[in-house]
Amino acid sequence: MDTKKRAVVVGATSGIGKATAQILAEKGWNVGVAGRRKALLEELQAASPDRIVYQVLDVTAPDAEENLNQLIAKLGGMDLFLFSAGYGLTNLSLDVQIEKDTVQTNAVGFVSLIHAAFQFFCTQGHGHLAAITSIAGTRGIGPAASYSATKRFQTTYLAALSQMAHNKKLPITITDIQPGFVKTDFILHKYPMQLDVTYVAKHIVRGLEKKRRKVIIDWRYRFVVCIWLLLPRKWWERLNLTSFIKK
Ligand SMILES: NC(=O)c1ccc[n+]([C@@H]2O[C@H](COP(=O)([O-])OP(=O)(O)OC[C@H]3O[C@@H](n4cnc5c(N)ncnc54)[C@H](OP(=O)(O)O)[C@@H]3O)[C@@H](O)[C@H]2O)c1
Repeated sequence: MDTKKRAVVVGATSGIGKATAQILAEKGWNVGVAGRRKALLEELQAASPDRIVYQVLDVTAPDAEENLNQLIAKLGGMDLFLFSAGYGLTNLSLDVQIEKDTVQTNAVGFVSLIHAAFQFFCTQGHGHLAAITSIAGTRGIGPAASYSATKRFQTTYLAALSQMAHNKKLPITITDIQPGFVKTDFILHKYPMQLDVTYVAKHIVRGLEKKRRKVIIDWRYRFVVCIWLLLPRKWWERLNLTSFIKK
């Protein structure tokens, strides 16, 4: 494979990761895609056999990093790493299993893959590391406690790695991508202001190409985030966000 533009997308079998991987391939990138559902990875590769390679990978499994390394080897290297895998459900009953599963994917799985990609870029001396976090990480959200907390964790972790890269004087770009609600399999309820997945993926690719540190999608959600941040804690903690959730 051409060694110029090589991107790995983890969580590429559906939704935002899939749409972003497809746009990158259309733009001439060589793309390594990963996720648990092999048939969907095969489909992606069949559509662009010259541009796409794949690896079955579960971010929560002990062999996740080994599988990432195998994918990088298949791709012939890596210039961009995008973490799009994620889990989260509205959890009004605070079911502890949902809380733990969310932490397992969005915190433990996130760290194992982001850490492996960051180390790879440190050894290589350069690279671009990106993750799809969420505007949900802006403040604690009652109906999605572990989801909002793990998204906050991801954003903070990326900020820490950005500082570390600067301290090491390594040209490693970090991009934190924070979409609002996007119409994907992830969204089980009728939330307001849902964005089209291709529209979001185009924003992501533009942000990646411009090497932006933070990308909030889109302008309406930039406004929402500003309002959320301005609200005093006392007011925020009395808000009832369940009224926005319709079955
Ligand atoms: N949709 C939204 O409104 C929204 C808003 C803000 C942020 N986000 C974030 O965007 C990211 C992508 O979500 P989406 O909306 O595109 O949902 P999606 O269509 O459900 O995609 C989720 C992706 O994550 C992968 N994944 C989940 N668990 C995994 C695991 N253990 N190991 C490997 N891959 C795993 C899935 O692949 P397999 O099932 O094949 O493994 C799938 O490719 C998530 O991090 C989500 O939190 C979504």
